[in-house]
Amino acid sequence: MRALVTGASQGIGRATALRLARDGADVGIHFLQHGDEARALQTEIAKEDRQAFLLRGDLRDLAAIPRMAKEVRDHWDSLDVLVHNGGAYPRQTFEKTTDEEFLELLRVHAVAPASLTRELLPLLRRSNAGRVIFVSSLLAFDGSRRGSPYATAKAAQLGLARSLARELAPSITVNIVAPGGIDTAVLAGDTPAQRADRVRQIPAGRIGSPEEVAAVIGFLASPEASYVTGATLPVNGGLRMG
Ligand SMILES: NC(=O)c1ccc[n+]([C@@H]2O[C@H](COP(=O)([O-])OP(=O)(O)OC[C@H]3O[C@@H](n4cnc5c(N)ncnc54)[C@H](OP(=O)(O)O)[C@@H]3O)[C@@H](O)[C@H]2O)c1
Repeated sequence: MRALVTGASQGIGRATALRLARDGADVGIHFLQHGDEARALQTEIAKEDRQAFLLRGDLRDLAAIPRMAKEVRDHWDSLDVLVHNGGAYPRQTFEKTTDEEFLELLRVHAVAPASLTRELLPLLRRSNAGRVIFVSSLLAFDGSRRGSPYATAKAAQLGLARSLARELAPSITVNIVAPGGIDTAVLAGDTPAQRADRVRQIPAGRIGSPEEVAAVIGFLASPEASYVTGATLPVNGGLRMG
């Protein structure tokens, strides 16, 4: 198995890359700023007797996507799993956002994943069981009080994912994992009071781990998920149901 994970230098992407490696995949580790962390992950994956290569690229920059895809093709002639995970969640009020900030988040979460998928389709089509997995957010459904461009972009991403699930069937499945309240850098800005308030709202009574999201992605990437496509799997401790 060969899997490319965007935003794999930390958080959910890192846990996913490691999980897929433990499930038998060679891994493309995409990152932007955290090169040392990406290299450390490459070493850790080597300990699992799997190969990993590093791929740097800014998902805000659509002109970089063809170069990134070429680097993947330089390593591999087929691809089994493509996980669109990379991206940030900047927080500010709607009144302070600019149109460019909306466009930037749309590029990161929707247009760059579309572009990268299109570029890598010939490789995915050479797989016996191609899988595209989008890391969405519960905010794609509920909106965000301090991140309207992010929630907008994640909602756009859902439309992309479901369209691809239809258009790439039956050879490639396309699914969505929608996390909420996962312990990564995204939540690091919470004050202790904000964190306690967050936990109070989660029926599971705690924040989730990146590994718990990676486990669901691992399932969607596995042969067991062969009849699952266009699905959204929430991983949020019950914070949002349905
Ligand atoms: N944590 C949560 O509670 C939560 C909830 C819902 C959805 N999510 C989603 O889960 C995904 C992973 O988030 P996380 O919580 O694991 O956050 P994280 O720990 O901050 O990791 C984000 C990853 O995305 C990469 N990235 C960020 N901006 C990028 C850009 N412009 N171009 C390329 N790569 C970029 C980062 O690379 P570098 O660090 O190398 O720059 C990093 O590897 C995101 O799509 C996020 O929206 C998270």
